[in-house]
Amino acid sequence: MSASAPQSADAAPAAGRAPAHVAIIMDGNGRWAHARGLSRSEGHREGLKATRRAVEFFANRGVRALTLFAFSSENWQRPQSEVDALFDLFVTAIEAELPELSEKGIRLRFIGERADFPQPLQQRMAEAEAATAENEVMTLVVALGYGGRWDILQAAQRWLRDSPGDAPDPERFEDYLSTAGLPPVDMLIRTGGEQRISNFLLWQSAYAELVFLDALWPDVTEQELSGTLETYLKRQRRFGRTPHQAEAGNA
Ligand code: FPP
Repeated sequence: MSASAPQSADAAPAAGRAPAHVAIIMDGNGRWAHARGLSRSEGHREGLKATRRAVEFFANRGVRALTLFAFSSENWQRPQSEVDALFDLFVTAIEAELPELSEKGIRLRFIGERADFPQPLQQRMAEAEAATAENEVMTLVVALGYGGRWDILQAAQRWLRDSPGDAPDPERFEDYLSTAGLPPVDMLIRTGGEQRISNFLLWQSAYAELVFLDALWPDVTEQELSGTLETYLKRQRRFGRTPHQAEAGNA
């Protein structure tokens, strides 16, 4: 991450237009590696470079929150060697990227069930969250051991513990989701040519604009990321209203 984050509001896109929260399903590392006769782990390492490009790109465009799907609840089913290599990569990446993320004012937050992760990884995650807690330029949310259904269920369980007998209302319920305090997802990008949500931010993406890219994650360029923003800006967001109402509301 070499370019610096916006230092003033002037550098950010017009208020109300740019997505406040972008989420990405970073798919295609394995296929990228396979096409080159490399191991899947080498694909993930190359994927990390694309991750850096995406963090830098969206931080520089005034996006307030970027959530990346790095390890799903279902990814535990992968071969143990791949799971171990991914955990090693996460530890190395947190250590290597932390100074620059701090310098750029990026706050790191991890969502998902982390109890079964190796201790060194849990420790790095907690340290990185504490070290960047006061940063305000952008929140980088890394979903590890995450599933949208898990998130809704853990929120429901905590709600019942705190307010037994109270019927949940959507606004207060959101405070129990792992993404509490973040805006809803405005744009959900998936790379790698598949067109599904795969149990990512199910509640939070209720009104997200979906953008699918054929490029495999390690191949995603700044130009393609730019294209996702252009696509987003051309969409009319109606939130259940008529096109006419939405136009009047957006004016
Ligand atoms: C999905 O591609 C990718 C993953 C499960 C891992 C994603 C991890 C990274 C990009 C590293 C980022 C690191 C941090 C710290 C955020 P796949 O393996 O399912 O690819 P395939 O569909 O081609 O098999």
